[in-house]
Amino acid sequence: MIGLSRYLEQNKETKMIIFAGKGGLGKTTCSAALAYHLAVNEGKRCLCFSTDPQASLSDIFEQDIFGKGEIEIAPNLYVVEIDADKRIREYIDDVKRKIREMYRTEEIPLEIEWYIETSAVEPAMYESATYDAMAEYLAEGKYDYYIFDMPPFGHGVRMIAMAEILSMWVDRITEARKKAKEYDEIAATLRGQRLLSEDKILEELYDIQSKLGFFKNVMLDRKKTAFFMVITPEKMSILDTERALEMFRELGLTLSGIVVNQVLPSKLSNNPSKLLAHRVEMQQRYLDEIRRKFGGKIASIIPMFDREPKGLEMLSEVAKYLVNPPAAV
Ligand SMILES: Nc1ncnc2c1ncn2[C@@H]1O[C@H](COP(=O)(O)OP(=O)(O)O)[C@@H](O)[C@H]1O
Ligand SMILES: [Mg+2]
Repeated sequence: MIGLSRYLEQNKETKMIIFAGKGGLGKTTCSAALAYHLAVNEGKRCLCFSTDPQASLSDIFEQDIFGKGEIEIAPNLYVVEIDADKRIREYIDDVKRKIREMYRTEEIPLEIEWYIETSAVEPAMYESATYDAMAEYLAEGKYDYYIFDMPPFGHGVRMIAMAEILSMWVDRITEARKKAKEYDEIAATLRGQRLLSEDKILEELYDIQSKLGFFKNVMLDRKKTAFFMVITPEKMSILDTERALEMFRELGLTLSGIVVNQVLPSKLSNNPSKLLAHRVEMQQRYLDEIRRKFGGKIASIIPMFDREPKGLEMLSEVAKYLVNPPAAV
């Protein structure tokens, strides 16, 4: 087991660390614990980023940070929880304002209004707003490490495919707008006028496109980005990991490692409680299967704690296992 400390020592160019995996297994916990360790124990400037208002960083760091920008929780440890819905709202309002300005009209045609409003509820918009925010922080380059706690949908891996689709989508609109602009220009010349306004929307689209492209390139760069899958010793989790690994291959991503979380201490197999003893035995069987299937990829094993890891003290406990795992749990 390499542990995340040694991984980062051996991969010095890593900037972005992403925990992927199904919901409820420990992505947020691992993100928070790693950010805590790198910032407080190693003195690296860290940004821990999330978009999920439920089961959130606010909760785990025991401080309300939702929608408040970058908050310093401890020395070098910055946490951000973006309000994706608010960002979408602002973005939509901005597009509408620009259309009004461009066409010098108070009322946006109903059809267009409908089109803009429906795109606000598209899941793709939520993801787009998330990457947009991530890309902005990344491009600013203020931090040594960016730890992204993935939104609860899909695998967190899906977002690479999403970035691809989004950028194609933006491409198409850009193309259509470019054509429209050319026609407008011709029409204006024929009327003996110059086109008055710049195409603000086209500018906006170019901007989104370049941010998405930048973000996608960083994500696909195995030197800069590390992906860790968080799993638990259970049947569903193993099946899920196998599927996720296939997705990784298809998207051209490399899995940096697997973190096995919520492992009951093996010495409990002698516990007088039959229920507990059986659960431990079951987990040990699945752990063997995990070792057989993904042996070389296991980066850390984290035990099940007697309560939910919250607050800096508990997170530092989790971090010990995550970054420098002992041989046995
Ligand atoms: N090792 C652990 N021991 C005890 N509880 C844990 C452990 N890891 C995670 N939990 C708890 O399990 C729940 C899900 O963890 P979380 O990190 O929020 O998962 P995710 O972000 O993947 O949905 C949380 O209530 C968390 O406190
Ligand atoms: Mg979470």
